[in-house]
Amino acid sequence: MSALPTDLLAGVDPVPALEGGRPVRERFLPVALPSIGEREKQAVAEVLESGWITTGPKAIEFGRRVAELSGAAHGLALNSCTGALHVALVAAGIGPGDEVITSTWTFCSTVNVILHVGATPVLVDVEPDTLNLDPAHVARALTPRTRALIPVHFGGHPADMDPLLALARERGLVVIEDAAHAIGARYHGRPVGSLGDITCFSFYAIKNVTTGEGGALVTSDGELFERAQVLSLHGISKDAWKRYAASGSWYYEVTVPGFKYNLTDLAAAIGLVQLDRWPEFHAKRRDLVARYEAHFAGEPAIGRLVTRPGVEHAHHLYPVLLDLERLTIDRARFLEALRGENVGTTVNFIPVHRHPFYRDHPGFEDARFPVAENAYPRLVTLPLYPRMEESDVDDVARAVVKLARRYRR
Ligand SMILES: Cc1ncc(COP(=O)(O)O)c(C=O)c1O
Repeated sequence: MSALPTDLLAGVDPVPALEGGRPVRERFLPVALPSIGEREKQAVAEVLESGWITTGPKAIEFGRRVAELSGAAHGLALNSCTGALHVALVAAGIGPGDEVITSTWTFCSTVNVILHVGATPVLVDVEPDTLNLDPAHVARALTPRTRALIPVHFGGHPADMDPLLALARERGLVVIEDAAHAIGARYHGRPVGSLGDITCFSFYAIKNVTTGEGGALVTSDGELFERAQVLSLHGISKDAWKRYAASGSWYYEVTVPGFKYNLTDLAAAIGLVQLDRWPEFHAKRRDLVARYEAHFAGEPAIGRLVTRPGVEHAHHLYPVLLDLERLTIDRARFLEALRGENVGTTVNFIPVHRHPFYRDHPGFEDARFPVAENAYPRLVTLPLYPRMEESDVDDVARAVVKLARRYRR
C-alpha cells in the first residue's frame, strides 16, 4: 500500500456538493463493477466458435474448479446462487413441516427458496460485529421441527461455523451455507465450501468471481451431489446435457420433477478465466480494504465491521456503520450527499423481516431483531472492486470524512 495522503482533506471544498460546493470527484464512481478483460472475451469467442454454447465441458470444468478452490469433493455449476440454494434444499429432502433457520441479514432469495420447498423459514438476529447469524439465537430458535440451518457469510466474512456445526451435529441438522459473497474465504484455515453439508456460491455480475449470472453448489457428499445434478436439469439422468452430442443418447428418463438451473458454457468460460484471476482480485480487494481502514481509524462517526481472528475474509463488500448520534443527518441524506460528491453507494441489506411480504409473517416482528434493527438505519456500503485504484479509495474516504465533519453534531 502506498503512503496515505498526509492531510486527507487538503484542497477539498468543505461545502457538500448538495449545498452548492465542489464535489470531491469529478467523475461518478460506481459502488460495484465487474473486471472483464481480453482473456474473458477470447474465452467466450472460443466457445461461440466451438458450436457448443450451452452446458458442456466448460461448465463441468468450472464446477470442478470451484470445488477445488473451496475444498469440496464435488462442484456443480448452476445459473445462480438462488438456484443452488433451492436445489440444495430439495436434494437434502427439506419440505413441508420442516423449519429452516437462517439470518434476517441476507438477500431475499435465501429465504424465498425455503418457502419454495414448502418449509417454514425461521429468521434469527445477527452478531453486531459481523452481521452474521448469531449461534446463541440459533440455539434458542431450535424446535423438534428444525431440519436445516442456512448460515450466510455476509460480505465475505465467514459466519461462526464451529458452534453452528456443533448444534447441527447434536440435532442432526443439514447445514447449507449461503456463500454468495464468500468464494475463497477461510474459517480457521478451512475453506468455505469444506465446512457444512452443501455450500452455494454466486457468480452474479458484481461478485468477486463472475459469470454474468451464475452460481455453484459444492459438497463432499457424493449422494447429495448426484441428486443435485439430476434436480438441476429437469430431473433427467445425470448426463442429460450430452444428449445432442456424439457420445450422448436420445433416451432419457425423468426420475423426479427437476428444475432448469444449468449454467451455459458461454458463462462458464468467463468463470474459468475469472478463477485464474481470483488470487489477484482477492489481493487487490484486501489492499483496498486495508486502505479504507487506515483512513477511517480516527473517525468516530464511521463505525466498521471486524475481521475476526482466524478468518480469511473474501472482502466482497465494504460496509460502514454511521454513528447517527454524532451526526445531524440521517443515512438517507448521507447517501444523497455522497451521490452529490460523485460516490456510488448501496445498502446491504434491507433485513428480510422488513420486506412487505415477510413483515406480517408470525415471528418476523421488528422487535425480535434488535441487532439488525440497530444496524439497518446506519449501514452504508462503499465502493469496493479490483478495478478501483488507491486514489479512488482516497476519494471515497475524502467524501465520507468531509460529510462526517460537516454534519457533525
Ligand atoms: C447473500 C446472498 N444470497 C444469495 C444471493 C443470490 O445470488 P444469485 O443472484 O446468484 O441468485 C445473493 C445475491 O446477491 C446474496 O447477496
